[in-house]
Amino acid sequence: MNRTIIALLIAIIATVTIADQKIGVPVLIGPNFWNIRGNFRVMAVVNIHTQMSVIKLPNGKFLIVDTIDLTSDLKSALDRMTNNGANIEAIIGVHPFHTTYFKAFYDAYPTVPFYGTPRHLRVVKDIPWKGDLNQQNIRNKWNPDVEIRLPAGAEFVNPQPEDNHFNSAWLFHKPSRTMHIDDTVIYADEDSLVLKIFGIKKGDMIFHPKIDPGLYNYPAAPFEFRDWVLKVIKDWDFDNIVCAHLGNKLGGAKLKLNQTVTAAEPLFRKLSEKRK
Ligand SMILES: [Fe+2]
Repeated sequence: MNRTIIALLIAIIATVTIADQKIGVPVLIGPNFWNIRGNFRVMAVVNIHTQMSVIKLPNGKFLIVDTIDLTSDLKSALDRMTNNGANIEAIIGVHPFHTTYFKAFYDAYPTVPFYGTPRHLRVVKDIPWKGDLNQQNIRNKWNPDVEIRLPAGAEFVNPQPEDNHFNSAWLFHKPSRTMHIDDTVIYADEDSLVLKIFGIKKGDMIFHPKIDPGLYNYPAAPFEFRDWVLKVIKDWDFDNIVCAHLGNKLGGAKLKLNQTVTAAEPLFRKLSEKRK
């Protein structure tokens, strides 16, 4: 057996091991905030995960953020939490391209209001969406416990091309000091051979590799995004970031994100130069 095949087998074993950790199980991250990991495989092998979160609001109802594969076990867990869905206040999608599982949630909870990104409304036509997150009044709906902002310097309404997954709405839940961010920020909470091939090791936090097409095509865009992230760091008192892909940064997330922005300064300058 040659080295490439051995490396591939080890990668598959490592991937399966990661995938088996708490998939589909609500994990309490902080007061009134649960995160649930889902499987998401690239090229059918590499499991980079995806996520949803469940937030208990001050009125006792639950806000579901994003959706993953609605297995019977997950459905049972959500039914127990929410009185068979009666206490779900809303289900929202914060990433334009994380659309796959919304229809299953709508079939399971058809009376719950759904809100998405503008792309959700365009592509998932089976759901009678109540609004989209490009509207300020929708983003403010769950204040003050929940704040939602849209990154500056990047397209949210109609990101192009179709593999440009950089941008997503960022959500902050104050009581748990937790941010829910999909692809814009990626955190490796485990080592794996596959990630090592791409130079990513446990503890690394990076911006999504599609940051180049993700940012607007004018020279100031990278700095608008950078300054927006710095303002988030200043404004929001977070300690955790749950990320759609790879894993969650629990504790110390503010320092880590600050370090990530600082480390990306050469990248921001390069992307700005490229846009001149
Ligand atoms: Fe993604």
